[in-house]
Amino acid sequence: APQIARTLPALRRAVDGLRARKATVGLVPTMGALHDGHIALVRLALRRCDKVVVSIFVNPTQFAPTEDFGAYPRTWKSDLAKLTEAGADLVWNPDAKVMYPEGFATKIVTEGPATADLEDRFRPHFFGGVATVVGKLFTQVRPDMAFFGEKDFQQLKVVTRMARDLDLGVKVIGATTVRERDGLAMSSRNVYLSPEDRATAPVLYKAMKETAKRLKAGEDMETVLAGGAAMITAAGFVLDYFEARHSETLAKVSSMKDGPVRLILAAKLGKTRLIDNIGV
Ligand code: PAJ
Repeated sequence: APQIARTLPALRRAVDGLRARKATVGLVPTMGALHDGHIALVRLALRRCDKVVVSIFVNPTQFAPTEDFGAYPRTWKSDLAKLTEAGADLVWNPDAKVMYPEGFATKIVTEGPATADLEDRFRPHFFGGVATVVGKLFTQVRPDMAFFGEKDFQQLKVVTRMARDLDLGVKVIGATTVRERDGLAMSSRNVYLSPEDRATAPVLYKAMKETAKRLKAGEDMETVLAGGAAMITAAGFVLDYFEARHSETLAKVSSMKDGPVRLILAAKLGKTRLIDNIGV
């Protein structure tokens, strides 16, 4: 079973131990409620690094007061069982008082991908919270590499940019989205879906695939995006956005010539908000 650290001195001792004989260290930041998407990141990290640290911390600063921080699933026992089975070396599980002690008053502000007018438009607090906690995780663990899912595409870009801009010395690696058999992207939030909504949810992936196919066939981008959006709303989703963006810069694109193109969306089904994206 992995070691568990809950205080900074315990983390430091454990990481120093892992680093003995110049072993490389990989970090997989998570908020727990682990599923096969998270475990794929752990397995990738184990292939690329000698030792792997997984952080489990439900970060309060990336949730707005109206969001699901309180309801966010917490499944420590099954998380630990999965990490044991996968072969992780250390779990970093601080509580909020350790991460944000009394008087904490510093925030990492990022621009570029964090102001691309996608998630940031609907969750204005989100990337400030993510950048600050990921910056802290990087300086706490000081990994050689850190692994993030493409599932949260804008987050992957924000974190990559921040690590470079602040010379954090961490190589950020992105990993392919892991999906259920019907195409729904795995997410800790999928447990919020009623059986009926769960049956509807794969339309997001179907609409993206259909849109990508039509774009590759040379159809007009605006028309094709409107068709994809209509498929999603007809299934009962309220769409926050469904856009084609440049897959490196997240800049808006108006045709395949402006690419490489990534389709990116966020949509609500009842109270559950889902995000997804694919490359075209
Ligand atoms: P969380 O939602 O727990 O996700 C942790 C990591 O798993 C992220 O890098 C995310 O992109 C990745 N991930 C989630 N679902 C995935 C899937 N289906 N396939 C592949 N990877 C997937 O993202 C966060 O936590 C937080 O914002 C965090 C970065 C930990 C900062 O608090």
